[in-house]
This record gives sequence, C-alpha cells and structure tokens, in this order.
Amino acid sequence: APPIICLDGPSGAGKGTVSQLLARRMGYRLLDSGALYRVTALSAMRHGVSLDDAEELAKTARNLAVAFEATPPGEPARVILDGSDVTAEIRTEKCGDNASRVAVIPAVRTALLQLQRDFRQAPGLVADGRDMGTVVFPDAQLKVFLTASAEERAERRHRQLLDAGIDVKISDLLKEIKARDERDMNRETAPLKPADDAHVVDTTGLGIEEVLDRVLALAGR
Ligand code: CDP
Repeated sequence: APPIICLDGPSGAGKGTVSQLLARRMGYRLLDSGALYRVTALSAMRHGVSLDDAEELAKTARNLAVAFEATPPGEPARVILDGSDVTAEIRTEKCGDNASRVAVIPAVRTALLQLQRDFRQAPGLVADGRDMGTVVFPDAQLKVFLTASAEERAERRHRQLLDAGIDVKISDLLKEIKARDERDMNRETAPLKPADDAHVVDTTGLGIEEVLDRVLALAGR
C-alpha cells in the first residue's frame, strides 16, 4: 500500500501549513480530515439538522455530497459541497466550533472512515488530523504528533486571522482553543492523543520551516 505520513495534534499546532508544505515536498496527496468534519457541520446547518440529533448527523455524514477538486500536490484542494464551492465558508470559527461538536458523535466518525481511507493513493499521502495515527491509518509509516502551548497556538491563530483582515482578541481565541482541546481530548471515541508509536514534536518557539525540517528528518529526507 502507498506510504502514509500522519500529522496529528490539537487546534492551531500548525498542522495545516506543515502538512501542505510536507505534501508538496514529498509529492504526496494531502488529506485535510478536519475539512470533512467541517463540511459535515456545514451540511447539517444548511439542512436545518440540529447539532444534538446524533442520528440525523450520522445520516448527513453518510450522504455527504462532497468533492475535493484536484490541485497540484500539496496545495489546498477546493472543497465542493452539493455542487457549490465552500472552501472559504468551512474555514469560519463557527464552522470549526460546530465541526468539533459533530466530531464527538461516534456514528459520524464511522461514516467518515472509508472516505478518509480512500485518500490513500500512490505515490503516498500526508494525513492531517486528530486520529490519523490512532484510528484511520494505524499502519502508517510515520506518525508525528505536533503540540504547542495553548498560548502560542492562540497567538498563531491571531496572526493568521489578522493576515486575513480579521481582528479578534487573543484572550477570546485562547478561550476557544481551550474549549476545543477539552472537547477533543475528553470525547469517548477517538480522543485526541498521540499514537503509541508517534513522534511527539513540541513546536512552541519553532517557526514553520523548523517544524518542516524536523518532520522531513523523521521521514528520512
Ligand atoms: O485546526 P482546527 O481545530 O481549527 O480545525 P480542523 O483541524 O479543521 O478540525 C475541526 C474539528 O474537527 C476539530 O476541532 C476536531 O474536533 C474535529 N476533527 C476530528 O475530530 N478528527 C479529525 N481527524 C479532524 C478534525
């Protein structure tokens, strides 16, 4: 089977950017598994499905009409839901927050499992998420778990949003990140934690290039 590099970790640890750069460098495909949870949340919102209705949410995930438009290796794919481009819409804080709510539902996670595994294609895959190494691709060649202090992750997100022209208080972002961590780590199904065979990399104080270099070194490049 084609090789897989898993990059797991909490919100704002820099997985998204590092995964993209890594996939480009390796010439691998990229799976942004968070996008699938975000699309599920968006689809539920659009169809008026309550975030408390586990059964309807699982149905939403099972019937997801989602497509990732092919882009050059390592570039963020355009995300298409029910025929329309939702690439920007799924990036909102609202969608991220709702994504972490639907992600606690076991039947939703099961519904998205095969969809994620289908991304495994030659010459290889970089898989970005929370449970890539623990649940989705337990046989992956390399598992990396990226962490950083909550404060640093809030600052990174702050800078990212400022670049996008959005000014949010760091203290609010810190609160959101802590709430997201709490939910991700304490859920019963696939709680956020490093796989037993994962390399834990603390990225506090490291720039993106330094993190990328460490992961490339672990990959033997
Ligand atoms: O980085 P951020 O948390 O903002 O967003 P994301 O990686 O796009 O993931 C959104 C939410 O989906 C996370 O907070 C998780 O609760 C959930 N998720 C998950 O449960 N499992 C994954 N493999 C990926 C995301």
